[in-house]
Amino acid sequence: MSRASLVVVANRLPVDRKTAPDGSTEWVTSPGGLVTAMESVMRNADSAAWVGWAGGADEDIAPFDIDTMHLVPVTLTAEEVEKYYEGFSNDTLWPLYHDVIADPNFHRTWWDVYVEANRKFAKAAAAATAEGGTIWVHDYQLQLVPEMIRSLRPDVTIGWFNHIPFPPFELFAQLPKRDSVLRGLLGADLLGFQRERDAINFTTCVRQILGYRASEHQIVVPGLGLEEDRTVEARCFPISIDVSVYDELTKDPAVLARAKEIREQLGNPKKVVLGVDRLDYTKGIRHRLKAYGELLNDGAIDPHDVTMIQVATPSRERVDAYKQLRDEIELTVGRLNGDFAPIGRPAISYMHRTFPRTDMTALYMCADVVLVTSLRDGMNLVAKEYIASRIDERGVLVLSEFTGAADELRAATLVNPHDIDELKSAILHALAMSEEEQQDNMRSLRRQVFDHDVQRWASDFLEALERVGGDRGAEA
Ligand code: G6P
Repeated sequence: MSRASLVVVANRLPVDRKTAPDGSTEWVTSPGGLVTAMESVMRNADSAAWVGWAGGADEDIAPFDIDTMHLVPVTLTAEEVEKYYEGFSNDTLWPLYHDVIADPNFHRTWWDVYVEANRKFAKAAAAATAEGGTIWVHDYQLQLVPEMIRSLRPDVTIGWFNHIPFPPFELFAQLPKRDSVLRGLLGADLLGFQRERDAINFTTCVRQILGYRASEHQIVVPGLGLEEDRTVEARCFPISIDVSVYDELTKDPAVLARAKEIREQLGNPKKVVLGVDRLDYTKGIRHRLKAYGELLNDGAIDPHDVTMIQVATPSRERVDAYKQLRDEIELTVGRLNGDFAPIGRPAISYMHRTFPRTDMTALYMCADVVLVTSLRDGMNLVAKEYIASRIDERGVLVLSEFTGAADELRAATLVNPHDIDELKSAILHALAMSEEEQQDNMRSLRRQVFDHDVQRWASDFLEALERVGGDRGAEA
């Protein structure tokens, strides 16, 4: 493919290359909300390319096409996987940007590798982009890429979108190399955030740390030498899902049959409660199991009538905090099943693996209640996927106040997951909710999600980017 007019750069490609012990390889869908959202956007884009990592270490893979997407793999060395991806991205930035739910770790050797890995992505993106094109950089792993691209390709327009929260000044100020991170981001023309609060946190950090002039949404970056000052915008663009995918899947007879089959396999309980998360400490799975376990123990939930399903998608398995979380969750589920499961069926059906979208839709269709109990979450697309799957306009979404989604999905049952008693009451309330109340809430939730799908999110962002940085070609 010749150079593309729109290039997306993210740490991950939408597919991940897995190598089995016998050396055979297969491509599987990459985990996480970023891929869920961007994959549909890219399938519908003309002349677009996606630059990202294919998951392994030291594996050179030539650019290739999947369906209508042109993918440009970036090779990471084993040291980069350890220090850029697992280290600075997921052991320093991830916990710090999520309200220090886990302690951030920082090793000075991680920083230089983060810089060099960012340079690889920036070079690959710069090489893949047509004259006067647009580069859309994604997420916390690539915060230095906007500035690097600007120096390599002054002719292109650069956007960056953060899929996770941006922390308040008091937390961001703890980040070693904070000035460099802010300067890296300010290479973009437009910076997008999930919530209004995130955009304001960012501009506050720029004012306080770099001393630049900034209003809530606009920052003046002083020019060096003869350069003129530049204005960068920071705004919120709440991400969403491709509702058409769920609309189709929920009408597919095979998915409907699968939903029925799952319920039967669970022994036809009166109610099914579902949790679906990457196995991540930000998701509040511990808090959810604590509340659910107490309800079983109190006798408020009878496991003959109600079954909980917890899907925990494997994630970042070599990072210590994730290993500990897995052990703890699996111990708790084992204990609860040991104490409460009826003979022949679980009180909590726990699965630590990835399922195809057809199975996930079937699970959403048979769940009477979905629990999203994140302690901090950029958006949370599971909440929106559940709503999009409820063509029967029934079902209850229990949703943490600490998700970006809670700003939009006001008709959900909102909870503070730190308050275990409140969470217990919310679960009982959801299980007992009348059909009329479920329908009122679900109709309003569906209107919100169907009116704000991922295509609208992408076009809002790209139109704003065009407005802010559209004359870049003329300036260069
Ligand atoms: C979140 C992040 C993404 C990340 C995904 C999966 O959604 O915002 O950038 O790709 O989690 O995490 P992983 O570390 O497996 O890429």
